[in-house]
Amino acid sequence: MANDLKGKKILVTGPTGQVALPITLALAQTNDVWGVARFSDAALRERLDVAGVTCITTDLSTTDFRDLPDDFDYVLNLAVAKGGDDDWDRDIAANAESVGLLMAHCRAAKAMLHCSSTAVYQHQGPEHPLKETDPLGDNHRVMMPTYSLAKIAAEAVARTAAREHGIPTTIARLNVPYGDNGGWPWYHLLYMKAGAPIPINCEKPNRYNPIHEDDFIRQVPALLKAASVPATIVNWGGDPATIEEWCAYLGELTGLEPKFDETDNTIGSVTCDLTRMHELVGKAEVPWRDGMRRMVEARAPEMLKQ
Ligand SMILES: NC(=O)c1ccc[n+]([C@@H]2O[C@H](COP(=O)([O-])OP(=O)(O)OC[C@H]3O[C@@H](n4cnc5c(N)ncnc54)[C@H](OP(=O)(O)O)[C@@H]3O)[C@@H](O)[C@H]2O)c1
Repeated sequence: MANDLKGKKILVTGPTGQVALPITLALAQTNDVWGVARFSDAALRERLDVAGVTCITTDLSTTDFRDLPDDFDYVLNLAVAKGGDDDWDRDIAANAESVGLLMAHCRAAKAMLHCSSTAVYQHQGPEHPLKETDPLGDNHRVMMPTYSLAKIAAEAVARTAAREHGIPTTIARLNVPYGDNGGWPWYHLLYMKAGAPIPINCEKPNRYNPIHEDDFIRQVPALLKAASVPATIVNWGGDPATIEEWCAYLGELTGLEPKFDETDNTIGSVTCDLTRMHELVGKAEVPWRDGMRRMVEARAPEMLKQ
């Protein structure tokens, strides 16, 4: 559990995010947790305030972190800026430059977890589980123009700063996080509710490695423990499943029939080899069908078939 960490001073960037919010709330039960973001959603900030998180309003594309304390035990970089084609300069600054400045500021930390993405890989199709050593590329361009390249740039900065400052670092390449706080399968369910076709790539099946929030919360301490100099790089996901399979299952749960729009104008399969993850932090434990049923129960119980 994330509360295996106790009594530590922990900085989380982007604590209102889909992935960061449940992690931050879990950590705040037993630690002194600080969060930096622009806090554009006041209700989410309120949830963090109530949980005892010290929220500091910061724009990662411009800050030098000078106003933050520098005595954090652990730093979790979970913020991300996902802009369009007009946002390259801001997104490289917010996602990559900020990592270097943050790690320089927090160089006394015992470990840094930098959340990356399997969006950093060159697309290889549904039958090729991507290993950490596979070629990097720009597999998300069609959906999020700056994302893959900004995440690759961020990894390079994190690797450099780990060596420059001697900060044990883990770069965890997350696949499809989901759970009670939403995620991509949740958006698919919203398409189904609206009767709208879900874009899937023509190259079928559309395979990913969804990981439930119980698992990614639980694995944070082990990922920090696996941190090293040079940085540890590891994929982060659950058992493989396809969009086609999980939408069919969401259909079984709700009685809604998924419609698909087969197109090249959406990302194609990104599935990963989890051998290194299993060695370092163990397997994800929540079977995807259980996790997705729980997601619907938590977010929209009225949608479940009686
Ligand atoms: N969600 C996924 O499907 C997925 C898949 C693979 C990897 N990941 C990785 O998981 C991590 C978390 O992603 P997420 O999807 O959970 O993020 P998210 O929901 O989009 O949240 C992003 C967070 O970053 C903050 N943020 C954005 N721009 C900022 C800026 N300029 N200055 C300060 N804070 C800023 C946001 O708060 P404000 O906007 O209020 O500032 C928010 O707290 C990222 O590293 C991402 O690459 C996510």
